[in-house]
Amino acid sequence: MLKICFVTSELAPLAKVGGLADVSQALPAALAQLGHDVRVILPRYRELKTDSDRQFVNLDNTIALEFGSRAHSFQILETDFPDKDPSSQAPRLFLVDCPELFDRTGIYGNQADEHLRFLMLSRGAIEICQRLKWAPDIFHVNDWQTAMLPLLLKTVYGWDSLFHSTRSVLTIHNIGHQGIFPTDVLEDLNLGDAETLLHQQDLSEGHINFLKTGLLYSDLLTAVSPTYAKEIQTSEYGMGLEHLLSARRSVLHGIVNGIDTEVWNPSTDNLIPAQFSAADRSGKQHNKFSLLETMGLEPNHSAPVIGIVSRLTAQKGFETLYESMPILLSENDVRLVVLGSGQPEYTRFFQTLQTQFSDKMAFHDGFNNKLAHLIEAGSDIFLMPSRYEPCGLNQMYSQNYGTIPVVRNTGGLADTVSQYDETTGQGTGILFDDFTNQGVLWAVRRALELYQDPEQWYQLVSNAMFQDFSWNKSAQQYAQIFERLSNLSVLKR
Ligand code: ADP
Ligand code: GLC
Repeated sequence: MLKICFVTSELAPLAKVGGLADVSQALPAALAQLGHDVRVILPRYRELKTDSDRQFVNLDNTIALEFGSRAHSFQILETDFPDKDPSSQAPRLFLVDCPELFDRTGIYGNQADEHLRFLMLSRGAIEICQRLKWAPDIFHVNDWQTAMLPLLLKTVYGWDSLFHSTRSVLTIHNIGHQGIFPTDVLEDLNLGDAETLLHQQDLSEGHINFLKTGLLYSDLLTAVSPTYAKEIQTSEYGMGLEHLLSARRSVLHGIVNGIDTEVWNPSTDNLIPAQFSAADRSGKQHNKFSLLETMGLEPNHSAPVIGIVSRLTAQKGFETLYESMPILLSENDVRLVVLGSGQPEYTRFFQTLQTQFSDKMAFHDGFNNKLAHLIEAGSDIFLMPSRYEPCGLNQMYSQNYGTIPVVRNTGGLADTVSQYDETTGQGTGILFDDFTNQGVLWAVRRALELYQDPEQWYQLVSNAMFQDFSWNKSAQQYAQIFERLSNLSVLKR
């Protein structure tokens, strides 16, 4: 049994911006199911304050921490891990409660102390282990927000023998966010002489990169799909970190995310009006009508529905719809429903499209979990034209909900969707290579063509619905690399 401390800035459904939240809920739960002692550390954001049903246990007195000349204190709260099955062995969940830094609107911000908020989380995680007198075998950190922890462990906390055999693993969920701050923040790190360990060229250029520091000092690295692990070693996808990643490729593993099949399961999902399964798909039609009504569109039996649920950011590739989507909507009896929020240029694009094609297209600007489930359940096709996609979860949800993914052939999309071949009847979706409007046009037209052929469509939907994306296999892969790492650390002693 391993002791694993999972440190994260998001956790579904308590604090969610994107897929990191889903992974932070499902992976620790799956590791705990495998018999490991898993403890998850999360900030106590404002959203967790207003949740009145939740009980919090205060574990300690106030802990004061110094960050350069600033001082902040926090309290340790324990609360139930959001796990649906109370009988199962669940991770323990601890919160870093520091109102000055976390009692704000939203999870991420762009104020001058953003670096401090996540240094507090990283140091808070280490301090919580100290207070619990619990020596984790593995600190599992995620993205830039917790990427400073491995270096802090080796320097600021290097004196503490509790962590003598603790090793660190950094998972890259998205290299597009690196946590780059001006060198003014150096003082807050308290590194002293160990400042020489930071990337010196970055410092001379006036900045410090949290993710890069994590890539340098974590004992092991993972990326959330095998294809993404390879892509980030290239200049096209590495966002400046490709050389470093390539130099550390012997410790970089690609492990594809799974999905929480208790939350995203069409036969038990109580957020959708009609449950359904591969054996009995009748409910899907009901969900389709309900989706169209909810979005203010006329229910129509024959028109295929294309769904999108996404953060509206450059990563997600919506430029490829600017010309292709008006053509597709004019040419075909098809519906498009979009749920998302984010950058104004994309919001404007979808709003304009809705005005132009008001009987065929509807856009909901916002974050809405229930509607996300309904879109997965009620659409026929799910579109993800991502510029890059470390893993992506919606294409997996879609397949299990019998909604055919049309995705760009990149990252985790390439690892979890296979091209449908009508001669063999194999494959689960449509993949396209070119990041262009032409690429999208080709792929959506192909999906629409298949939709017109009921036999082919039935086969394709069956293939998709029978895919097993549960976490079990990936959690075992994590456990294996953790075990190898902790055995190595025992051998080294
Ligand atoms: P990313 O983490 O890059 O946003 P993923 O596909 O890994 O992409 O995960 C996105 C998660 O966030 C999914 O669970 C998706 O359903 C959810 N999501 C994204 N946008 C919205 C939204 N506007 N409303 C509800 N859920 C959303
Ligand atoms: C990131 C990526 C997404 C991935 C998620 C969870 O936000 O953009 O592709 O699925 O993290 O790992």
